[in-house]
Amino acid sequence: MFDLAPKPGDLDPIETASRDEIAALQLDRLKWSLRHAYENVAHYRKSFDEAGVHPDDLKTLADLGKFPFTYKQTLRDNYPFGMYAVPREQVARVHASSGTTGKPTVVGYTRNDIKTWATVMARSLRAAGARPGMICHVAYGYGLFTGGLGAHYGAEELGMTVVPISGGMTERQVSLIEDFRPDVIMVTPSYMLAILDEYRARGIDPRETSLKVGVFGAEPWTNAMRQEIETAFDMHAVDIYGLSEVMGPGVANECVETKDGLHIWEDHFYPEIIDPVTGEVLPDGEIGELVFTSLTKEAMPVIRYRTRDLTRLLPGTARSMRRMEKVTGRSDDMMILRGVNVFPTQIEEQLLRVEGLAPHYQVELTRSGRMDEMTVHVEALPTHADDAQRAASAAELRTHIKNVIGISTRIAVVDPGVIERSMGKAKRVIDNRPKA
Ligand code: DLL
Repeated sequence: MFDLAPKPGDLDPIETASRDEIAALQLDRLKWSLRHAYENVAHYRKSFDEAGVHPDDLKTLADLGKFPFTYKQTLRDNYPFGMYAVPREQVARVHASSGTTGKPTVVGYTRNDIKTWATVMARSLRAAGARPGMICHVAYGYGLFTGGLGAHYGAEELGMTVVPISGGMTERQVSLIEDFRPDVIMVTPSYMLAILDEYRARGIDPRETSLKVGVFGAEPWTNAMRQEIETAFDMHAVDIYGLSEVMGPGVANECVETKDGLHIWEDHFYPEIIDPVTGEVLPDGEIGELVFTSLTKEAMPVIRYRTRDLTRLLPGTARSMRRMEKVTGRSDDMMILRGVNVFPTQIEEQLLRVEGLAPHYQVELTRSGRMDEMTVHVEALPTHADDAQRAASAAELRTHIKNVIGISTRIAVVDPGVIERSMGKAKRVIDNRPKA
């Protein structure tokens, strides 16, 4: 694999600043952001007043814990433009995340916000090993989803040549990778696997592509999956995190030279980890729900936004800014089986240990009597066609899941291509339990 580590002088000074400098900047910006939200968004004025807090009460970063949380529901209740802190005319762009139920969550950006976003996205790409002059194939969806345009503006900002192909049309993805010879690909990890299928179907060796690094995110994925993709393509696979409500892609990114979790761009997004049940702020190092407060956003500041994503904060390594561990999953995706909490990523980790199984899987939940049951549907590799071989892999996976996670599951090893391929975020859980 290529050496893509940054050279001295490549980074923004703030990326290697001291913790004191970062904290001082955060405190200044946090004061501004709380005031901006309080003075210009009816919801924040009301919720701060109800909680008996005022922006002037923030004297230290820890004082943020006194302020009320913001939820996805808060944004829905103020649909579509009620959370804007600037007149709508100053909003240069709108994005929205579809969600599975109810109204979409609408967000907005001023021209300055779009510049900030491009800056943090360019920083993310550079952390991933991208450099000016490289070609960037953007296969995140363009449109209301923040993935495509967010990646696009960042790649342009860094000085790359951008190929805005968007998601879908997998055959064409492969043709353009072969013809344009990009260095960098930006796509969800699950869709990268669909691209891998297409390479294999055409009999082209994926290890021979021009790709040096993939910047994968928008959904949870494991280090086992990283290994799988890196080996298949002989390229680096780096994690990128973000969410529309806070900005879009580029809130945090892994560094290619360490691949040890995602550095949060803390000069723009202030993270906290809380106990999801009590709301109490947890110390760094403990696992809980990630909460963000925007520090510089103009159009739609967010104060203590509950992401539902579970992770923990770790000290900086390749950069001074703190890292978040790879997200295990969203609390919404957590399944509880006979009292044991399970995330799809835990299943993914186990199935990638078993020879003959492909990384395409879905977890189905059903109910028999009063008992919930889980069936893991997973594809066999094309070379793994024999029934006896498949039965052995199923038994092995069942044992791993029982031993490591502690639950009994049914395993259905299915033919290659049977599990639905996503063009963006994969759907990992199918809940067929009767509705309560
Ligand atoms: O998915 C933004 C994005 C686009 C991030 C492209 C990275 C790359 P939303 O559609 O609002 O925004 O979904 C945000 O996706 O709260 C997480 O649950 C999940 N998510 C995003 N990145 C990761 C990641 C975009 N690297 C929601 N690992 C978030 C795990 C992720 N989950």
